[in-house]
Amino acid sequence: MADKITAPSLRSMRTANKKIVCITAYDACFGALADEAGADLILVGDSVGNVMLGYTSTVPVTLQEMVHHTRATRQGVKRALLVADLPFGTYESSPSVAMDSAVALMRAGAEAVKLEGDYPEAVAALTKAGIPVMGHLGMTPQSVNRFGGHRVQGKGASSERLLEEAKSLDAAGVFACVLELVPAAVASHITEEVSYPTIGIGAGPCCSGQIQVLHDVLGLGDHVFKHAKPFMTGRQLTIDAIRAYTEEVRASKFPGQEHSS
Ligand code: KIV
Repeated sequence: MADKITAPSLRSMRTANKKIVCITAYDACFGALADEAGADLILVGDSVGNVMLGYTSTVPVTLQEMVHHTRATRQGVKRALLVADLPFGTYESSPSVAMDSAVALMRAGAEAVKLEGDYPEAVAALTKAGIPVMGHLGMTPQSVNRFGGHRVQGKGASSERLLEEAKSLDAAGVFACVLELVPAAVASHITEEVSYPTIGIGAGPCCSGQIQVLHDVLGLGDHVFKHAKPFMTGRQLTIDAIRAYTEEVRASKFPGQEHSS
């Protein structure tokens, strides 16, 4: 196994100009597959709400659900850095609330947590307590109701505010930050201005690394987002496999002698 990835080693990858590859996973099975495939960082994202639990946004996801999926993913991940999302409502009100929530995720096996938005006091408090924190700026899905949809952020004059937030998180001590749905030129500029690795999703090729939702990479959804690329036709392959199974059972072809004791 190649060397274990840690929060400091991701910073070294930025310094060495090595692209950082990140992907989400939500259970032991896919955590192990993503780890074996060589991902550097595996995120137990609160996108679990959308892609696994059937919610229409990440807003309903609870800390208990995140703890459950983090504990499961932990069982499969050995080499990659395992990061878990602090869900909506579990860190914004105060650093001490953020601390309690982050401790629950770390006890479940996370090696770092991610939070959305500009909360430098929470970042500093968690970092001081030994919990590496990843930021998330731009289109932060927990604020979808404020944005009025999944819209590109940081266009025009608002790019200055985004840069200020990115610098504020740098001063607070994040070890990396996701930039989601941000114009490529803005993400590139932020990357030059901060000391940490930037991890893009719909933010162009100049970030220090990229993150994608597992289900988008595997082509499991019924929709392809502009920022995503399916690397297999997982949805159709899965339907075909389950259909072949149902047909063989109905035709009494499966199980055969070789599957029987
Ligand atoms: O929850 C998630 O999957 C995320 C990534 C899209 C960055 O936050």
